[in-house]
Amino acid sequence: MLGKFYGLGVGPGDPKLLTLKAAEVLKFVPVVAVPKSRADRDSVALDIARNHLSPGAEILELNLPMTSDPVVLEMAWQAGAERIFDKLQAGSSVAFLTIGDPSLYSTYQYVLEKLKGIAPEVEVETVPGITSFAACAARVSEPLASGDEPLLVLPAVDEKLGEYLEQFPNLVLMKVSRDMERIMAEMSAHGRQALFVSRCGSPQEAVVRDLSSLAGEKVDYLSLILVGPKGE
Ligand SMILES: C[S@@+](CC[C@H](N)C(=O)[O-])C[C@H]1O[C@@H](n2cnc3c(N)ncnc32)[C@H](O)[C@@H]1O
Repeated sequence: MLGKFYGLGVGPGDPKLLTLKAAEVLKFVPVVAVPKSRADRDSVALDIARNHLSPGAEILELNLPMTSDPVVLEMAWQAGAERIFDKLQAGSSVAFLTIGDPSLYSTYQYVLEKLKGIAPEVEVETVPGITSFAACAARVSEPLASGDEPLLVLPAVDEKLGEYLEQFPNLVLMKVSRDMERIMAEMSAHGRQALFVSRCGSPQEAVVRDLSSLAGEKVDYLSLILVGPKGE
Protein backbone atom coordinates (compact mmCIF):
# COMPACT_ATOMS: atom_id res chain seq x y z
CA MET A 1 0.00 0.00 0.00
CA LEU A 2 1.26 3.47 -0.89
CA GLY A 3 2.17 5.81 1.95
CA LYS A 4 0.43 9.18 2.23
CA PHE A 5 2.10 12.43 1.15
CA TYR A 6 1.82 15.46 3.42
CA GLY A 7 2.80 19.04 2.61
CA LEU A 8 3.44 20.74 5.93
CA GLY A 9 3.69 24.48 6.48
CA VAL A 10 5.98 24.92 9.48
CA GLY A 11 5.43 28.67 9.90
CA PRO A 12 7.93 31.51 9.58
CA GLY A 13 10.55 30.62 12.19
CA ASP A 14 9.27 30.47 15.75
CA PRO A 15 8.65 26.76 16.52
CA LYS A 16 5.64 27.85 18.60
CA LEU A 17 4.01 29.05 15.38
CA LEU A 18 3.94 25.53 13.95
CA THR A 19 0.32 24.39 14.03
CA LEU A 20 -0.98 21.62 16.28
CA LYS A 21 -1.99 19.76 13.13
CA ALA A 22 1.52 19.90 11.65
CA ALA A 23 2.96 18.73 14.99
CA GLU A 24 0.48 15.84 15.01
CA VAL A 25 1.60 14.68 11.55
CA LEU A 26 5.30 15.02 12.45
CA LYS A 27 4.74 12.82 15.48
CA PHE A 28 3.99 9.72 13.41
CA VAL A 29 5.39 10.26 9.94
CA PRO A 30 8.46 8.06 9.33
CA VAL A 31 10.04 10.14 6.54
CA VAL A 32 10.50 13.91 6.50
CA ALA A 33 11.44 15.46 3.15
CA VAL A 34 13.48 18.62 3.47
CA PRO A 35 14.20 20.93 0.54
CA LYS A 36 17.79 22.15 0.54
CA SER A 37 19.13 24.76 -1.81
CA ARG A 38 22.78 24.01 -1.06
CA ALA A 39 24.25 20.85 0.39
CA ASP A 40 26.23 22.82 2.99
CA ARG A 41 23.32 24.87 4.32
CA ASP A 42 21.16 23.91 7.28
CA SER A 43 17.47 23.65 6.53
CA VAL A 44 15.49 26.41 8.26
CA ALA A 45 12.27 24.39 7.91
CA LEU A 46 13.87 21.38 9.59
CA ASP A 47 15.21 23.53 12.43
CA ILE A 48 11.69 24.83 13.08
CA ALA A 49 10.17 21.33 13.07
CA ARG A 50 12.99 19.40 14.74
CA ASN A 51 11.50 19.09 18.23
CA HIS A 52 8.33 17.50 16.86
CA LEU A 53 9.91 14.71 14.78
CA SER A 54 9.28 11.13 15.79
CA PRO A 55 12.34 9.38 17.21
CA GLY A 56 14.20 7.72 14.34
CA ALA A 57 12.40 9.70 11.61
CA GLU A 58 14.35 9.54 8.38
CA ILE A 59 15.38 12.89 6.90
CA LEU A 60 15.20 12.86 3.12
CA GLU A 61 17.24 15.81 1.88
CA LEU A 62 16.10 17.00 -1.53
CA ASN A 63 18.46 19.11 -3.56
CA LEU A 64 16.28 21.93 -4.88
CA PRO A 65 18.65 24.65 -6.11
CA MET A 66 17.78 28.33 -6.16
CA THR A 67 18.10 29.05 -9.83
CA SER A 68 15.93 30.52 -12.55
CA ASP A 69 17.16 27.97 -15.10
CA PRO A 70 13.91 26.14 -16.02
CA VAL A 71 15.71 22.98 -17.17
CA VAL A 72 17.66 22.64 -13.91
CA LEU A 73 14.51 23.32 -11.90
CA GLU A 74 12.35 20.80 -13.78
CA MET A 75 15.03 18.14 -13.30
CA ALA A 76 15.36 18.90 -9.58
CA TRP A 77 11.59 18.82 -8.96
CA GLN A 78 11.29 15.56 -10.89
CA ALA A 79 14.22 13.96 -9.04
CA GLY A 80 12.75 15.10 -5.71
CA ALA A 81 9.33 13.66 -6.57
CA GLU A 82 10.92 10.35 -7.61
CA ARG A 83 12.79 10.05 -4.31
CA ILE A 84 9.58 10.77 -2.40
CA PHE A 85 7.70 8.24 -4.50
CA ASP A 86 10.29 5.54 -3.69
CA LYS A 87 9.46 6.01 -0.01
CA LEU A 88 5.69 6.08 -0.58
CA GLN A 89 5.94 2.94 -2.68
CA ALA A 90 7.75 1.23 0.19
CA GLY A 91 4.69 2.02 2.32
CA SER A 92 6.13 4.98 4.26
CA SER A 93 4.22 8.23 4.58
CA VAL A 94 6.29 11.32 3.80
CA ALA A 95 5.94 14.88 5.10
CA PHE A 96 7.46 17.61 2.91
CA LEU A 97 8.40 20.65 5.03
CA THR A 98 7.90 24.15 3.78
CA ILE A 99 8.60 27.51 5.46
CA GLY A 100 5.48 29.55 6.17
CA ASP A 101 2.53 28.27 4.18
CA PRO A 102 2.76 25.65 1.40
CA SER A 103 0.40 27.54 -0.90
CA LEU A 104 2.59 30.62 -1.11
CA TYR A 105 5.69 30.57 -3.35
CA SER A 106 6.72 27.14 -2.20
CA THR A 107 8.68 24.44 -4.03
CA TYR A 108 6.15 22.05 -2.55
CA GLN A 109 3.68 22.95 -5.33
CA TYR A 110 6.13 21.97 -8.08
CA VAL A 111 7.21 18.75 -6.40
CA LEU A 112 3.56 17.84 -5.78
CA GLU A 113 2.75 18.37 -9.44
CA LYS A 114 5.61 16.04 -10.46
CA LEU A 115 4.53 13.47 -7.89
CA LYS A 116 0.99 13.51 -9.26
CA GLY A 117 2.51 12.95 -12.70
CA ILE A 118 4.31 9.84 -11.43
CA ALA A 119 1.44 8.48 -9.33
CA PRO A 120 -1.91 10.28 -9.55
CA GLU A 121 -3.36 7.82 -7.04
CA VAL A 122 -1.16 9.04 -4.15
CA GLU A 123 -3.21 10.41 -1.26
CA VAL A 124 -2.17 13.99 -0.49
CA GLU A 125 -2.87 16.23 2.47
CA THR A 126 -1.65 19.83 2.64
CA VAL A 127 -1.44 21.37 6.10
CA PRO A 128 -1.43 25.17 6.05
CA GLY A 129 1.11 27.20 7.97
CA ILE A 130 1.35 30.75 9.25
CA THR A 131 2.71 32.70 6.33
CA SER A 132 5.74 34.95 6.80
CA PHE A 133 3.97 38.24 6.15
CA ALA A 134 1.18 37.50 8.65
CA ALA A 135 3.85 36.80 11.26
CA CYS A 136 5.73 40.01 10.37
CA ALA A 137 2.57 42.12 10.70
CA ALA A 138 1.78 40.44 14.02
CA ARG A 139 5.33 41.08 15.21
CA VAL A 140 4.70 44.84 15.09
CA SER A 141 0.95 44.58 15.85
CA GLU A 142 0.04 46.39 12.66
CA PRO A 143 -2.63 45.48 10.08
CA LEU A 144 -1.79 44.13 6.64
CA ALA A 145 -4.99 45.73 5.34
CA SER A 146 -8.05 47.26 6.97
CA GLY A 147 -11.66 47.84 5.95
CA ASP A 148 -12.06 47.51 2.20
CA GLU A 149 -8.40 48.21 1.32
CA PRO A 150 -6.70 45.83 -1.09
CA LEU A 151 -3.38 44.14 -0.34
CA LEU A 152 -0.85 43.38 -3.08
CA VAL A 153 1.67 40.59 -2.50
CA LEU A 154 4.68 40.75 -4.82
CA PRO A 155 7.01 37.75 -5.14
CA ALA A 156 9.75 39.90 -6.62
CA VAL A 157 10.43 43.48 -7.45
CA ASP A 158 10.24 44.54 -11.08
CA GLU A 159 10.02 47.75 -13.09
CA LYS A 160 6.33 48.15 -12.17
CA LEU A 161 7.04 48.69 -8.46
CA GLY A 162 6.59 52.48 -8.74
CA GLU A 163 3.23 51.99 -10.44
CA TYR A 164 2.09 49.57 -7.74
CA LEU A 165 3.18 51.95 -4.98
CA GLU A 166 0.91 54.57 -6.51
CA GLN A 167 -2.04 52.18 -6.88
CA PHE A 168 -2.05 50.08 -3.71
CA PRO A 169 -2.38 51.28 -0.10
CA ASN A 170 -0.87 48.07 1.26
CA LEU A 171 1.88 45.91 -0.23
CA VAL A 172 3.96 42.94 0.81
CA LEU A 173 7.31 42.73 -0.98
CA MET A 174 8.84 39.28 -0.71
CA LYS A 175 12.28 38.01 -1.78
CA VAL A 176 13.63 41.54 -1.42
CA SER A 177 17.24 40.72 -0.60
CA ARG A 178 18.63 41.33 -4.10
CA ASP A 179 16.68 44.51 -4.81
CA MET A 180 17.10 46.65 -1.70
CA GLU A 181 18.72 49.64 -3.38
CA ARG A 182 15.98 49.84 -5.97
CA ILE A 183 13.23 49.42 -3.35
CA MET A 184 14.70 52.19 -1.17
CA ALA A 185 14.85 54.53 -4.16
CA GLU A 186 11.22 53.81 -5.15
CA MET A 187 9.96 54.21 -1.57
CA SER A 188 11.46 57.62 -1.21
CA ALA A 189 10.42 58.67 -4.76
CA HIS A 190 6.80 57.77 -3.92
CA GLY A 191 6.82 58.99 -0.33
CA ARG A 192 5.94 55.60 1.12
CA GLN A 193 6.84 54.34 4.56
CA ALA A 194 7.88 50.74 4.91
CA LEU A 195 8.79 48.17 7.49
CA PHE A 196 11.60 45.69 6.88
CA VAL A 197 11.52 42.38 8.76
CA SER A 198 14.17 39.71 8.52
CA ARG A 199 14.09 36.16 9.94
CA CYS A 200 10.85 36.90 11.76
CA GLY A 201 10.37 34.70 14.82
CA SER A 202 13.94 33.42 14.91
CA PRO A 203 16.81 34.46 17.22
CA GLN A 204 18.29 36.40 14.24
CA GLU A 205 15.13 38.47 13.79
CA ALA A 206 15.59 42.12 12.74
CA VAL A 207 12.89 44.79 12.42
CA VAL A 208 13.88 48.03 10.68
CA ARG A 209 11.62 51.05 10.18
CA ASP A 210 14.16 53.27 8.47
CA LEU A 211 14.98 51.51 5.20
CA SER A 212 17.80 53.92 4.42
CA SER A 213 19.73 52.49 7.38
CA LEU A 214 20.08 49.30 5.34
CA ALA A 215 21.93 51.03 2.49
CA GLY A 216 24.97 48.97 1.50
CA GLU A 217 24.05 46.16 3.96
CA LYS A 218 23.87 42.53 2.92
CA VAL A 219 20.26 41.47 3.48
CA ASP A 220 19.18 37.94 4.48
CA TYR A 221 17.10 36.00 1.95
CA LEU A 222 14.40 35.47 4.59
CA SER A 223 13.40 39.13 4.62
CA LEU A 224 10.37 41.03 3.47
CA ILE A 225 8.99 44.54 3.41
CA LEU A 226 5.51 45.67 4.45
CA VAL A 227 4.29 48.91 2.93
CA GLY A 228 1.39 50.54 4.75
CA PRO A 229 -1.34 52.95 3.76
CA LYS A 230 -0.07 55.88 1.73
CA GLY A 231 1.10 58.86 3.73
CA GLU A 232 1.30 57.03 7.06
C1 LIG B 1 10.09 31.17 -1.30
S1 LIG B 1 9.24 32.38 -0.34
C2 LIG B 1 8.43 31.34 0.80
C3 LIG B 1 7.20 31.98 1.39
C4 LIG B 1 6.56 31.10 2.44
N1 LIG B 1 5.95 29.93 1.85
C5 LIG B 1 5.52 31.87 3.27
O1 LIG B 1 4.38 31.41 3.41
O2 LIG B 1 5.87 32.91 3.80
C6 LIG B 1 10.57 33.00 0.59
C7 LIG B 1 10.33 34.43 1.02
O3 LIG B 1 9.43 34.46 2.13
C8 LIG B 1 9.77 35.52 3.01
N2 LIG B 1 10.04 34.93 4.35
C9 LIG B 1 9.97 33.64 4.69
N3 LIG B 1 10.21 33.47 6.00
C10 LIG B 1 10.45 34.70 6.51
C11 LIG B 1 10.74 35.19 7.82
N4 LIG B 1 10.87 34.36 8.87
N5 LIG B 1 10.91 36.53 7.99
C12 LIG B 1 10.77 37.38 6.93
N6 LIG B 1 10.49 36.97 5.67
C13 LIG B 1 10.33 35.65 5.46
C14 LIG B 1 10.99 36.22 2.42
O4 LIG B 1 10.55 37.32 1.64
C15 LIG B 1 11.58 35.14 1.54
O5 LIG B 1 12.39 35.68 0.50
